Amino acid sequence: MLFVDDEPAILAGLQNLLYKDRRRWEMVFAGGGELALQHLRTRTFDVVVSDMRMPGMDGAALLNIVKDEFPATARIMLSGHAERDAIVRALPALHQLLSKPCDAETLRSAIERGLDSFAGRAASREAEVRAVIGSLDKLPSLPEIYFQLTRAMTDPAASPDDVARIVQRDPALAAKILQLVNSAYFGAGQRTSSIGHAVALLGTDRLRYLALESSVFAPLDRDPIPDLPIAAIQAGAERAAALAHRFLAGPDRDTGFAGALLHDLGRVVLALGMTDAYRAILEETRATGAAIATVEEARLGVDHAEIGACLLGLWGLPGPIVQIVRHHHRPSRAPAELREVCAAVHVADALTHDPPAEAPIDEDELARAGMLDRLAPWCDLAAISRQDS
Ligand SMILES: [Fe+2]
Ligand SMILES: [Fe+2]
Repeated sequence: MLFVDDEPAILAGLQNLLYKDRRRWEMVFAGGGELALQHLRTRTFDVVVSDMRMPGMDGAALLNIVKDEFPATARIMLSGHAERDAIVRALPALHQLLSKPCDAETLRSAIERGLDSFAGRAASREAEVRAVIGSLDKLPSLPEIYFQLTRAMTDPAASPDDVARIVQRDPALAAKILQLVNSAYFGAGQRTSSIGHAVALLGTDRLRYLALESSVFAPLDRDPIPDLPIAAIQAGAERAAALAHRFLAGPDRDTGFAGALLHDLGRVVLALGMTDAYRAILEETRATGAAIATVEEARLGVDHAEIGACLLGLWGLPGPIVQIVRHHHRPSRAPAELREVCAAVHVADALTHDPPAEAPIDEDELARAGMLDRLAPWCDLAAISRQDS
């Protein structure tokens, strides 16, 4: 990994902070943006951690170049709090934002999240897939929901609840807000999987400048694949989230809601980043009636569940949400404490997915997860909520 700061004392401080890790990580320290680029052009780095304010090329400029030239490198920024304009400029290019000064644990776990998200994935087109995930700075929202958000942001009377109701409908907005709030910078170390709580923590003032001044939220300006309307994924996710919320109780409800809302983001990533390959996958899915994840796995060596989990892990979302997205087709592979919520998201997805053949209920998987007896009551609840709506 590469650390960049113009102040030698800070670089020495970082080196000290991560002294324990010197054997497992190869660390290079660069005294500025230009020097960092020289290193990046001679060898491959998994993670770049950069200071924001530097003479010459600042952190925002550096990370924007890294994003374009080395998209597979995870990008982390360390910044002081007085640098709002620079942050707005940098946000679209970075994966995780930490505040200065930063303690060893926070820095270490941010780096680990950046590493984990890519490590050990045996994708047959790994380099391509990594680049697709890494180059993606934002996900498009449906124009209708995006404009609802900007309208709420210019309305001084809009409450956090009004904003949360909008964000809860859109996977892209929800993912971005959870990313911001779970960063050490905006969230002040609080991790949350609840979208309502995230909006409240961020506050409408900060949301306003992020929504209106930065480009981290954006409306969809084109439909990459006419047969894969992003609108259909958004609508499916919204229905699945409502259903998962209904299936679960206690704190799992919020986590399940968020996991279900984000479960198919990997499909959006693939549709935007590998449009031609993805069109072929959809054609094969339709022609054969196979599950979409099976066709993706056969053609790419990785499926949308894994892609979505990689992206959200890289963005620093809470571990449970990342795990739910990763295992939404295979709940038995989730850690024991997440098997129920994963199974709920799996069933909620299958019952709301359009067309249903793309994401079938896997009863064998539910049995392996020890959740098969939940299927009938969940189907009953789904029938009731269909009648309600
Ligand atoms: Fe899926
Ligand atoms: Fe789905």
